[in-house]
Amino acid sequence: MEFVFCTNNEHKIQEVTQIMGSNFVFLKLKDVHFYDEIPEPFDTLSANAAIKANTVFFYCGKNCFAEDTGLFIDALLGEPGVYSARYAGEPVDSSKNIQKVMDKMLGCENRKAFFKTVISLVTQEGEWQFEGICHGSIAKQLSGKDGFGYDPIFIPDGYTQTFAEMDVTLKNNISHRKKAFDHFEYFLKHEYPNFIK
Ligand code: IMP
Repeated sequence: MEFVFCTNNEHKIQEVTQIMGSNFVFLKLKDVHFYDEIPEPFDTLSANAAIKANTVFFYCGKNCFAEDTGLFIDALLGEPGVYSARYAGEPVDSSKNIQKVMDKMLGCENRKAFFKTVISLVTQEGEWQFEGICHGSIAKQLSGKDGFGYDPIFIPDGYTQTFAEMDVTLKNNISHRKKAFDHFEYFLKHEYPNFIK
């Protein structure tokens, strides 16, 4: 049985490969000859994750999963949220996105924020979603070179380092993505026992 991970984001592919371990083998978009941009037109993570997985499912007919992630900052009333990727406009630029957050939060004492990931799974049998949240705070300056996206400014609760300063194994043990994929793995083990050994 084959499952396609519907993303063009190499960072996500690397993280999910490490989170799920070597017994979980999935196809990439190029393996099913899907080369288009996947749309993210909606204003919820859930709807965007669903359209990504459904778009590829209707294209290739294989079981598909996709994820959509956002950073939700209290003091910015939930921004950048579902618009995290294009917060500073097109083309997508993580440095500009971070700069926009830092500018808006200048002098802000409430630094609380959380990352949320929603995974959508689409198969012949149906459609399911799995969520993971990681609470933390927005640092007052950028630190670290690892990770991607907003990692240099996000400090998970219980730690003093940003995600970008952490060993990648630690990030992948506590992140929003890890929590969502734990639910996904539990579901697969029960519903598709041959898929994960
Ligand atoms: P999307 O899920 O691909 O739409 O990503 C939304 C935005 O959040 C992009 O700017 C990503 O770089 C960023 N993002 C997604 N996951 C993470 C993460 O684990 N850490 C930091 N930024 C992330």
